[in-house]
Amino acid sequence: MNSDDMSAIGEGFSSLDLIYQCLIDDDKYQAFDKALRDVIVPDSRVLELGTGSGILSMIAGRAGAKKVTAVEFDPAIADVARQNVLNNDLGDCVDVVTGDARTITFTEPFDVVVMEMLATGLVDEMQVLAMNNLHRQGLITEATIVIPFAQENYVSLVHANFAVHGFTMSMVSHLWSHDDYADKFKELTKPAMLNNVCFAHENEEVFSGQVVLDILTDGEVNSICLSSTVVVDQNRTITLDSTSSLSPLVLVPLPLRAVKAGERVTLEIEYTFGGGFSNFKARYI
Ligand SMILES: C[S@@+](CC[C@H](N)C(=O)[O-])C[C@H]1O[C@@H](n2cnc3c(N)ncnc32)[C@H](O)[C@@H]1O
Repeated sequence: MNSDDMSAIGEGFSSLDLIYQCLIDDDKYQAFDKALRDVIVPDSRVLELGTGSGILSMIAGRAGAKKVTAVEFDPAIADVARQNVLNNDLGDCVDVVTGDARTITFTEPFDVVVMEMLATGLVDEMQVLAMNNLHRQGLITEATIVIPFAQENYVSLVHANFAVHGFTMSMVSHLWSHDDYADKFKELTKPAMLNNVCFAHENEEVFSGQVVLDILTDGEVNSICLSSTVVVDQNRTITLDSTSSLSPLVLVPLPLRAVKAGERVTLEIEYTFGGGFSNFKARYI
């Protein structure tokens, strides 16, 4: 694919809509804005990977950073970010670079790294791979401030209602906070922590583990419900659960299993961070 073809993809509906939906998420930006204002000083050199509209880099610039490098791999989206930076008179501070966060290299260190390539369970987006790229280059030291600091991922067992338009659509389903999903599932266990991914150190790119869940009420399990909490700052004073563009609940179908209150169910789960739900494997053991 040449760069003209890539540009055509970026101008399509879905990728530009995604970054606009990200942009109008007030809860998320208030949290990131506060976290950035808390740490940025006039000498701060900031790196953002996966900049989209450029908003987080521009917030860092507005907070007083000396220099911000913003990386985006979609050339058309990178152009949008460049234009947003210029339109807001931040061209002297924010430099938008077209590049892949998984492989891009830097010779200069950064004081603050900010990144929002997050997804529920970190299944779909590449935050772990992008952070690992920086760790492998020795760019993250104890002095580097990493925003967000971590993401906690949880699973519960549910009975999901996959009925849509008179069909049974048993498939991975994202339930956004602005949608009415009250009748979409019945929780049969409380959420239990699956993993806690701290971005301040390098992470294994494949997760493999077991989780034990206590059944609360008689019923039939047919799905996992995956949920996430983003820990924005290192002191855990700013956290984000599901917002309009972040961490929707995700239903992942499982084989049907009748359960009784008080029963204990163990799941084995394996997936590659950033590898998508086609690589997400879960089974009862
Ligand atoms: C969820 S959006 C968030 C955008 C922006 N950080 C925000 O908070 O509004 C993720 C962005 O990262 C970009 N992205 C995804 N994978 C990338 C990669 N490997 N390298 C660079 N950019 C990437 C996407 O094109 C998209 O613009």
